[in-house]
Amino acid sequence: MSSLVCFPFKEEDVPTFVRNIQSAASHERVGAVICVGFSRGVTWHGILAAIPDIEAVYKKPVILAEKKRHASTGLRAGKGDGMNTALEYFLHHPEFTRLHFYDSDIVSFSRDWITKAEVCTDAGGYDVVRHYYPRSSTDAMITWFVTKVGFALLWPDSVLPCIEQPLGGELCLSRKAVQTLFADRRVRDQAGWGIDTLYTFVAAQAGLRLAEVYIQEGKIHSLYSGLSDLKTMLVECFSAIQLLRHDDVPVSKIQYSIEPPQPVPKRLKQKVGYDIEKTLKLLRMNWTPRQWELLQQHFDPVLVKGLQQASEWPSWMWADEAAWMAAYPVFLNNFQMGDTDWEEILFKVWVGRVLNYTLRDVVRGYDAAIDTLREMVNNTCNLATKREVEMYQNGK
Ligand code: DGY
Repeated sequence: MSSLVCFPFKEEDVPTFVRNIQSAASHERVGAVICVGFSRGVTWHGILAAIPDIEAVYKKPVILAEKKRHASTGLRAGKGDGMNTALEYFLHHPEFTRLHFYDSDIVSFSRDWITKAEVCTDAGGYDVVRHYYPRSSTDAMITWFVTKVGFALLWPDSVLPCIEQPLGGELCLSRKAVQTLFADRRVRDQAGWGIDTLYTFVAAQAGLRLAEVYIQEGKIHSLYSGLSDLKTMLVECFSAIQLLRHDDVPVSKIQYSIEPPQPVPKRLKQKVGYDIEKTLKLLRMNWTPRQWELLQQHFDPVLVKGLQQASEWPSWMWADEAAWMAAYPVFLNNFQMGDTDWEEILFKVWVGRVLNYTLRDVVRGYDAAIDTLREMVNNTCNLATKREVEMYQNGK
């Protein structure tokens, strides 16, 4: 039995990346490592130069491949093309039993991450093992406000809202899981950041056996400057949910287990995930007359008034949980990826929501903040289930 480990990459810190390849190659269960690059840049050449030594020490192939285009859509090339390239490579190499993915920039990566996934798969025969770990209370703002809320709103009775890190790039797939994912056109069409949502969703929809393992030290990697760093990711992750909104997921077909979490390390509890001062300025920028028209046409007047205030002076009280819950379905029905005004409106309402959470909940301490996020997902599930029951009772 031998596993293939894939590191998708763009431009990363080369010494960190090389260390991660060495850790993977040193693992007794790993038969080869594949690094799938976005392009032949500085990191590509750094890894190319390091490969002969790594292969000589560990006596295993380290493959360097450029991402292949799998998407038939006009979507921006990105992480999705890279991950899908590894799926295809794995399918052409039957000597490997499992395929692991890890982000290449993880400073805290070690062989233990691979061991955990391998041991869990051996024990439970899982098709997908996902790693999860504690994160700063102001990190994972797309995960919480877009992906988890979207899963809760659209598929409240499925496993999806329970998955700790649905956008996590650290996972181990069985051959059956790789076949299921790569056979799905929706997966191959996700060229960018939407890929994680699609892997999570398609695995749940297909009823693949799922487990989550806990990495206590957390994923130490670079965090963000202002939230504008995350705009493309926000748009692509939201659009992936929007694409799936009419699809069904079985309620309890799936077999799922999760390793319980451990106490969160102090340094993570104290970490601030993004630059608040830089972010406060974002609500005043990039307004166009059409954005106001779209807002007035589609959204609650209270939200529009809040944004008007925020366009003049930093304000965030308007962007509470109820406002986000009311706005989310409006975006699901009307948002258009590629339309810069729609993208900017989505971004601004999300920025307002993240600031509201940061300045009202995060200031109350780590545990209170995380409780608020968990309650928000539970509230969303309850609300969506209640609405489904009412629709059923009304014969809709
Ligand atoms: C998320 O929301 O999970 C993104 O990785 C940004 O932190």
